[in-house]
Amino acid sequence: MNEMTRTKLTADEWDEINFPRPEENEFDRVVERALSRRGFLGGVLAFGSGALAMRAGLLSSTAALAEEPSRFAFQPIPAATDNTVHVPEGYTWKRLVSWGDPLFPGVAELDQESGGSADDADKVFGENTDGMESFLVDGRQVIAVNHEYTNNEVNLPQAEGGVPRDAGDVLKLQNLQGVAVFEIEEGPDGWTVVTDSPLNRRLTHNSPMKLSGPAAGHDLMKTEADPSGTESLGTFNNCGSGKTPWGTYLTCEENFNGYFGATEEPQLDETVAAGYERYGIAAEGWGYDYHKWDARFDTSKHPNEPHRAGWIVEIDPSDPGSTPVKRTALGRFKHENAAATLAPDGRVVVYMGDDERGEFIYRFVSSAPYVPGADTSRLLDEGQLYVARFNDDLTGEWVALTPEAIGMSDAEIAIFSRMAASRVGATTMDRPEWVAVSPVAIEAYCALTNNKNRGVKTNAGGDEQPVGGPNPREANEYGQIVRWRPMNDDHAADGFEWDLYVMAGNPTVHDDDYAGSKNINEGNLFNSPDGMAIDSTGIVWIQTDGDDSNEEDFAGHGNNQMLAGDPVSGRIERFLTGPKGSEVTGICWSADRKTMFVGIQHPDAPFPDGEGKLPRSSIIAIKRDDNAPVG
Ligand code: FEO
Ligand code: CA
Ligand code: CA
Repeated sequence: MNEMTRTKLTADEWDEINFPRPEENEFDRVVERALSRRGFLGGVLAFGSGALAMRAGLLSSTAALAEEPSRFAFQPIPAATDNTVHVPEGYTWKRLVSWGDPLFPGVAELDQESGGSADDADKVFGENTDGMESFLVDGRQVIAVNHEYTNNEVNLPQAEGGVPRDAGDVLKLQNLQGVAVFEIEEGPDGWTVVTDSPLNRRLTHNSPMKLSGPAAGHDLMKTEADPSGTESLGTFNNCGSGKTPWGTYLTCEENFNGYFGATEEPQLDETVAAGYERYGIAAEGWGYDYHKWDARFDTSKHPNEPHRAGWIVEIDPSDPGSTPVKRTALGRFKHENAAATLAPDGRVVVYMGDDERGEFIYRFVSSAPYVPGADTSRLLDEGQLYVARFNDDLTGEWVALTPEAIGMSDAEIAIFSRMAASRVGATTMDRPEWVAVSPVAIEAYCALTNNKNRGVKTNAGGDEQPVGGPNPREANEYGQIVRWRPMNDDHAADGFEWDLYVMAGNPTVHDDDYAGSKNINEGNLFNSPDGMAIDSTGIVWIQTDGDDSNEEDFAGHGNNQMLAGDPVSGRIERFLTGPKGSEVTGICWSADRKTMFVGIQHPDAPFPDGEGKLPRSSIIAIKRDDNAPVG
């Protein structure tokens, strides 16, 4: 979701209040230390040559990078402020599918007056496309994709202010979210959805799910409808995604708290109340109003229901009859995505960010190794959850969240992972969004999107958010990308070294830390990195969800966008611009790598149908005109 990071102050007022500038700040010190370790991560430190050099201005930084030859096969494009998508010359984009498009035979096309019926809403491509992955199932090209939240005024155009009028409106919203799995095929006119494929499937806020792992069956998971605490309904606020080595889809439940509300003051015991506080579950909810029409979401009646959301859910795209499984061993928090890889001994490693100001980066390591062809059903149930601690000396460690270390049971650590992580002094981060693991180097990246509270106030658990380490800017409105390389080239090792791949900023407005790192220049301005994936050639694709006002501190940034980054030289170039108001999020490739699929979420403009039509979140397919691979 778009998080505004500024108030209505002028740029100068904002600057003065939020950016006090001591002679030497933590950013200078971190940069200096990083420079003294040049040689780490392949010999090139991609971020600044020191804050002082940044203050020397834009020319010195762009001149240095211009000497590095570009690895990119495209000519970068300018920032845009219009209502459509742009890609470089030699590439073409086409719409694949938009909110409201039928995924099954016999379903009506979107009715622009009503925004579609509640009954059809679970048979169409849902709202707000987000994380997605592609799969090849018996030679069929399949996409699994998240539908994160709803834009009520767009989806309920006949309800005043988008406020649900009845249980039917609520059901429609519930049905438009969740996950879609569907087959696509490429014809002479491009890619289309195969509506009669047996693999097509929609999962919604009411679809049956299993709970597995340490929290399954715990008293905190039990409800009137499910006294076993092992069977829940629905997957919620599905944000980023992941893919396991055995070909299943991981969907990540992020801002699940917003769906719950209370019609009366809930009577909560101390533990549950503390969890509500830390996870932001409040009586008023976030405007979905489910609790007024569907008692399951009324916490005064069903206080444990929120414990059954906030998980990573594993879905088998090859078996539309399978029941998705909520893997509680991977912790409960506002899951952004799940970046899975293998340690040298075959154990499964999953990196995960918790996207809220001052929350943490986590890692799960399975107990057993992945063996191709063997049973994978317990791999994400048995293992150890860790949280990251970043040291200012550019080292860090994964701290195991164990009952011995924390004084909570395994089930409690799973359900209240945030509190467990706070107890071991995890590093509060600038809103961890996607983690991406490189397929060509043993390193991982995490987009830290922005954090207006850095150096200003504590996180929701009372943990300090000091300026420093990988979060070196107070009231960080631009964001940065941190990367780490595990010790011994082993993603299961407990130690790592880190650096900052890029600090976003604006060197046309600022000449200090807020100018950004050396690899930021007038030609590639962006803020709020969010979606991220590294392609088969090692290029980092960075998607943004930030301030697209194109004014003041964000002058020249234009609409949200997607950029390509070279991890070795540090070079970053703009590849795509989205329509006004949209967020660019979700990326995957066809099996032959000749098509890149990208998600365009919540456009303001009537994209892609044009004037007078509803704005529709869409997946687009991008190809090179010479049909060469695109990643
Ligand atoms: Fe759904 Fe943190 O983005
Ligand atoms: Ca996101
Ligand atoms: Ca975001």
